[in-house]
Amino acid sequence: MHTETAGSNVAEIEFAIENFQVEDADLPEFKDMQFENINELKLDHPGANDEEYRERRDHIAGLARKFRETGVITDVDYSPREQRVWRYVAEELEELHQRYASPFYLRAKKELGIRTDTIPQLSEMNRRLRELTGFRLAPIEGLVETRGFLSWLSYRVMLCTQYIRHHSQPAYTPEPDIVHESIGHIPMFTNPAFADYSQFVGLGARIANDKQLEELGRLYWFTVEFGLVEHEGDIKAYGAGLLSSFGELEHAFSDRVERRPFDLEQVINHEYTYSDMQPVLYVIPSYAELKEVTRKYIESF
Ligand SMILES: [Fe+2]
Repeated sequence: MHTETAGSNVAEIEFAIENFQVEDADLPEFKDMQFENINELKLDHPGANDEEYRERRDHIAGLARKFRETGVITDVDYSPREQRVWRYVAEELEELHQRYASPFYLRAKKELGIRTDTIPQLSEMNRRLRELTGFRLAPIEGLVETRGFLSWLSYRVMLCTQYIRHHSQPAYTPEPDIVHESIGHIPMFTNPAFADYSQFVGLGARIANDKQLEELGRLYWFTVEFGLVEHEGDIKAYGAGLLSSFGELEHAFSDRVERRPFDLEQVINHEYTYSDMQPVLYVIPSYAELKEVTRKYIESF
C-alpha cells in the first residue's frame, strides 16, 4: 500500500510520472483522509437557514463518509425538487456550451452520458472514466484544503461532492456541488493529456513547498477552473468554473475580459480573487502542450 509521507522525494515522483496507470494497490486508504471542518455549511449559503436542505445535504455528505469506509460509491436517490434544479441549470448551460465549450468537452459530456433531464451518478461516470483514462472519482462531503485536494490528483483521483445547490438560487452556489463536478470537471478527465496534466499538478502538490503550492493553486485556477483553449483559430472554454456557470461563461467571452496566451510564469504569479468575475483569462494552445509545460515545471521542484 502506498502511503503519503511528509518528505515525499524525487524517486516517488519519477515513479508516478512514468506511470499513468494507477492500480488499486497504489492508492492510499481513503479512510485515512484527514479533513478539518470539511462539511461546514457557510452562513452565506442560500440554504443556510433551510433546515430541510441542511438535513438533506448532511445525509448526502454521510454517503461520502461511508465511501471512505467501504470504497464503494453509493448512488443518491435525488428528489424531484433536486432533479428540477438540475434540469433548469443543465438546460441553460447546454445552450451556452454549444456556443462556447471546447468541442472535446462537448463530445465527452455525451460519451459520459451526462444529460439535461436527470442528475448523473458518480458511480456510472467513475466506471466510464476508469475505462477511458484510468481516472477515478471519490465522493467527498465538502471543500478540502489545497494540498490535500490536489494531492489526490496524483493518483488520478478527483474528489467530488454529490449534493446539489439550493433551489432558491439555481444559478449560484458558493461551494462545489454535483452540477459543478459533473458539468464542470468530470468530462475533461476523459481527455488523456488533460488527465495526465491533472496528475502532474497532483504530483507537484505532494512535493511543493508552500510558495510552490500557491503557484500550483494559481495554475489550477487558470486552467482546470477557468481555462480557455485554442480551437481552429477560435477560442473555447474547458475550465469547470466557466462551464458550470452561466454568468462566468458569458463573461469569459465578453470584451470585459482580457484573454491572454497561456504563459506558465505569468499564470503561476497571477493573484486572483474568488469573489469577482475574472478580468483576465489564459488561452492554452492545446492540452498536450499544457501537459508538457507542467511536466517540466514540476520536475524543477
Ligand atoms: Fe472546481
